[in-house]
Amino acid sequence: MNSAGTTEILSTHTPELFQTAVLHAARLLRAGNVVALPTETVYGLAANALDAKAVAQIYEIKGRPSHNPIIVHVSDLAMAKRCVSHWPATATRLASAFWPGPLTMVLPRSDAIPDIVTAGGDTVGVRWPSHPFIQAVVRECDFPLAAPSANISNRLSPTNAAHVAAQLGDKLPFIVDGGQSQVGIESTVVDLTSTPPRVLRPGMIHTESLEATLEMPVADCRLPIAVAALKSPGLLKKHYSPRAKLFVLSWRDTAALLAQLSTLNIPPSRCGIIAHTTIPSDEQFGGVSVIPHDAEAFARAIYSELHRCDEAAVEWIIVESPPAAPEWEGIADRLRRASAEGMETRNLPIGREVC
Ligand code: TXA
Ligand code: MG
Repeated sequence: MNSAGTTEILSTHTPELFQTAVLHAARLLRAGNVVALPTETVYGLAANALDAKAVAQIYEIKGRPSHNPIIVHVSDLAMAKRCVSHWPATATRLASAFWPGPLTMVLPRSDAIPDIVTAGGDTVGVRWPSHPFIQAVVRECDFPLAAPSANISNRLSPTNAAHVAAQLGDKLPFIVDGGQSQVGIESTVVDLTSTPPRVLRPGMIHTESLEATLEMPVADCRLPIAVAALKSPGLLKKHYSPRAKLFVLSWRDTAALLAQLSTLNIPPSRCGIIAHTTIPSDEQFGGVSVIPHDAEAFARAIYSELHRCDEAAVEWIIVESPPAAPEWEGIADRLRRASAEGMETRNLPIGREVC
């Protein structure tokens, strides 16, 4: 909230509004405040990464455990290099292929980065996002922005300003409305301090693309999650969760889906179904939504659909199982985490177990 006790929401759809919002966000950030900003992946909760007191507010607002480090967002390579103590050749390769974009590189931290950003660790996650708004704010501030996703800890990430307002509106002075996030799930996180490099969080830049760019194998830490979580606490099993209980299932037709729900003791009328290929007839369900069957469109839409199911107060969300192809690995990972408790992770493609 601002001094008047209200949250200001500014949109950015004309050049004038965009510029006004950039200047306002930069002013608040320079004064040590936290603001919610759009990025191409999900909305972020940003503070000056060089100001430990400002970053402390991020942890407080999100209810984030202090052992979970925060990604630092930059607006060019020179700024990225100032955040780290060593810039390996692997980082040059990945940056030229995927930056600006949805890739976070974990590198040895520089002394400029306060302990609170890295949760006391000796590495820092660095990302140069492609969204023009956050780029413009970082350039205007001329300091990097620490920004986790703008949700309450362990809840679904926001992919539009309304999602942020619903979860955190009463705690923030300023939310920038930059429309729908174009990627839709969080960045791929790759650790370049280990040999071989290791994917800590899969995303839309998938492991095979990293391997092709680096011309070397990349380890994939999706499994076992418990091991990965020691390295990157955001990989804790239960994460990215809607309020409703989520199951991932596959079905041949409506009758087969109804039979599975009956076995699971789930009343169809209290289910939201999210399908991409085999669309069930919708009379008996609480709702059926359809996301196009390509990984990019699916990623862009899935969190909005999950938020919508929560708003509709369905008790169960049934998502049609994604295909077992590299471009779906980030989506499969998020669905696995969203359904991480109990027996709900049926039929999900399991990634390669390299570490
Ligand atoms: O797309 C994204 O990455 C979004 C937007 C806002 O940029 N940010 C985001 O941040 O998803 P967050 O904090 O919700 O997730 C960051 C993940 C966490 O799993 C965290 O543990 C991990 O990255 N991480 C951050 N710094 C790390 C480090 N130094 N070493 C290992 N893992 C790190
Ligand atoms: Mg997050």
